[in-house]
Amino acid sequence: MKGIVFREFMQMVEDQFSLETADAIIESSKLASAGSYTSVGTYPHEEMVELVHQLSIRLRKPVPDLLKHFGRHLFQRFTVIHPQYVTTHQSAFELLSVLDDHVHVEVRKLYRDAELPSFEHEHLADNRMLFVYRSARALADFAEGLIEGCIEHFGEPMHVERVDLPVDGRGAHSQFTLTRLHEQP
Ligand code: HEM
Repeated sequence: MKGIVFREFMQMVEDQFSLETADAIIESSKLASAGSYTSVGTYPHEEMVELVHQLSIRLRKPVPDLLKHFGRHLFQRFTVIHPQYVTTHQSAFELLSVLDDHVHVEVRKLYRDAELPSFEHEHLADNRMLFVYRSARALADFAEGLIEGCIEHFGEPMHVERVDLPVDGRGAHSQFTLTRLHEQP
């Protein structure tokens, strides 16, 4: 996992919780990196899982809730750090349709060794889309947070239903069905 993701996570913990909490979770995690991350560096994604686990102990909040929270936060940060991949789209459906073939392809050029999930999508109706997450990393909660952040960004009331399918040879597998609640004029 790229250092940019770790740096954004640690900054969020510092800003939204405290500097002490940020220091404490690094100290109590067993990290090969010792918690020093550069944006373009690559680190085991297990370090993120460990940091979130330590944060969950300290805040007494479930790990999935914290991963979702971070996903929502990170999407909002992407609108600031990489606006060109967000502001060129008019809706959540539009961005999600090009995530796999365009946005994450560009991310791979920007961040060498990026470990990205794969997404398939299908338009089920004008107001409904199926979005399927597959990854060698079990980060569907994080993906859900990013999807929620994307929906919030475009300000479209949306119902999101998630179904986790069994992990298979291709790793984690979750289906998200997004239903736009009000038809656009
Ligand atoms: C709703 C939209 C998006 C979703 C659902 C999404 C999903 C994800 C997920 C789940 C991961 C974690 C890796 C994994 O699970 O295997 C990831 C990684 C990443 N995504 Fe996205 N993403 C979205 C939009 C974006 C945008 C707009 C950018 C901006 C450039 C971006 C840049 C990245 C980067 C830099 C990583 C880290 C790769 C690494 O650590 O090696 N994503 N994305």
